[in-house]
This record gives sequence, structure tokens and C-alpha cells, in this order.
Amino acid sequence: MISGSARLAGVIGHPVSHSRSPLLHNHWLARHGIDGAYVPLPVPPERLETALRGLRAAGFAGLNVTVPHKQAVAAFCDELDEAASRTGSVNTLVFTADGRCLGSSTDGAGFLASLRAAGVDARTGPVLLLGAGGAALALAASLLAHGIPVLVANRTRERSEALARRLATAAGPAPRHAVPGPGVRVLDWAAWPAALADVALLVNTTSLGMRGQPALPTDLSRAGARLVVADIVYVPLETALLAAARARGLRTVGGLGMLLHQAVPGFAAWFGVTPEVDDEVTALLASSVAASGQPAATDASG
Ligand code: ATR
Repeated sequence: MISGSARLAGVIGHPVSHSRSPLLHNHWLARHGIDGAYVPLPVPPERLETALRGLRAAGFAGLNVTVPHKQAVAAFCDELDEAASRTGSVNTLVFTADGRCLGSSTDGAGFLASLRAAGVDARTGPVLLLGAGGAALALAASLLAHGIPVLVANRTRERSEALARRLATAAGPAPRHAVPGPGVRVLDWAAWPAALADVALLVNTTSLGMRGQPALPTDLSRAGARLVVADIVYVPLETALLAAARARGLRTVGGLGMLLHQAVPGFAAWFGVTPEVDDEVTALLASSVAASGQPAATDASG
């Protein structure tokens, strides 16, 4: 229901037509009988500042931010949470009643929440991330903040090295942990299959395996029996990597959970209710993915 005093939120990106966030948030609004709406807001980079000022002036409670604005919006925020300042990337904005703009990055926490929901404890050993883009940075920052060692392998090695340097610097002189926390170890792209014996969790954060993209070259022959394999790609719901892992009897976690869980803190802040990631909403999103057949970004906030 939408009355004259409905609370408003939305997703800004360019494009946003692929975004599943409107489907998800409007489902939760209906489910909780909240007087509100969540709308797609296609905003090109040159109109970002005007759009942010306008949406704030129009009384929006906040926004999700997706490609290509995740870095640029950080400059408009009065405050960033720890994950956003570590990664320089913002996927959730909250406009407060006293006129401030709070930026947060919920992708990393969303990924960890999706693991927990799948019954996977990421603290049992090192995590190997494939890829070194924005998604890898968000995941690595959250894993490190929980004291979990991270290995990164990327086709372009300098990008993994830049990611490792960024997180080493972002950790700052006063780390969260009493003892110095773990860092990021960089592996050559060709070396990741051989490293599997020593890791507890393998996560694909590259765009490989997404519908319309080549499959990730998959060699899981060195995997220990307790390796968990996760993919943040959710179109298709089961990537070739996950299928290969399942065929070996390994546990798998698909990308849909991260998409759902990263959305929870924004909804709670804008609409005042913490929504459930339950079977009903998971099935809704899964059927939307299955029906669309469209490629989607690895960007979880999409
Ligand atoms: P995001 O911000 O969503 O993580 P991105 O910054 O475009 O997206 O990163 C995409 C990731 O997929 C990168 O790690 C990229 O590797 P490069 O840094 O070498 O470009 C990876 N990727 C894309 N196509 C690939 C391919 N054909 N083989 C290996 N890695 C690939």
C-alpha cells in the first residue's frame, strides 16, 4: 500500500533494469504491510550528484547503489561505516532525519550471512578468492575483519596485489584485534587449483560462469573433502563451478543468498523492520532469475 506519507527508497545505477532489488524490497514491504515503495532509479554518472541531492530533498529514506556509482557516492557521504571506508565502496545510503547521509557497504557482511544461513562456518580455515574486483575487495575486507586469512588469485596479478595493499593500509595502525590480524596472500592465477588442499572455502568473485560468459576453468582435483565451494554469480543459480563441486561431493553455496542478505540492513534502516531471508523470498528471487535468462553483474547489490 502507498499512502501520502509512504516511505521511499530505491536503487541508483546505470543501468538498473536488470536489478532484482525492487522485486525483493517490494516483496518485503508487502509482506510486512509497510506503507512504502522501492523504485529503480536509472542515473547516469553525470547526473549522480543532482540525483542524490534531489532524492534527498524529496524525502527519500535512502538508496541502494549499484554499478557504476559505488565508489563515487562515497564522496557524498557524511559518514562511512567500517566496511565502506576499508573498501572505498558504498552500496547502501541512509538519509537521516537531521540531514546526514550515511554510507555503508553490506556486500561482505551479506556474503558472510549467506554462509551462516547455509550452515557454513568460514572461520575454520583460509579462504581462497578468485578475482580481485570490487566484489573480491568487499569479501576480503569482511573476512579479514573476522580474523579469517584470505588468499587471492586473479588473472591480472597486479590487481590482486593492489587489493592486498589496499586492505593492509586500510587496516590502519589500530587493528580491531589484539594480535595483528591476518593479511591477504596473493597467488598466481594458474596456481589456484594447487592451493585448494590448504583452504577451507573457495569463492568465485569473477564474472566467469555467469550466463553469457565463459565458464571458470575448474580443476578441483586437489580439494580436500571438507572444502566448501561458493560462487557469488547467481545467474545461473548453479554455475559450472558449483556443479563440478557438487559432483565431487563437496558442499556448495550459491550467489542468491548474498544478494538477499546484503539487502537486509538497508531495508531495516529505511523501513524500521528487519526482514527475513526465508524460503518464500528465496523462491521468489530464484524464479525471477530462472525466468529472465538475462546475464547479471557479479555486483551483489544488483
Ligand atoms: P566486480 O567489481 O563485480 O568484482 P570487476 O571489477 O569487473 O567486477 O571484476 C571482474 C573480475 O572477473 C576480475 O577479477 C577479472 O579479472 P581481471 O582483473 O584480470 O580483469 C575477472 N575476470 C573477468 N573475465 C575473466 C576471464 N576471462 N578470466 C579470468 N578472470 C576474469
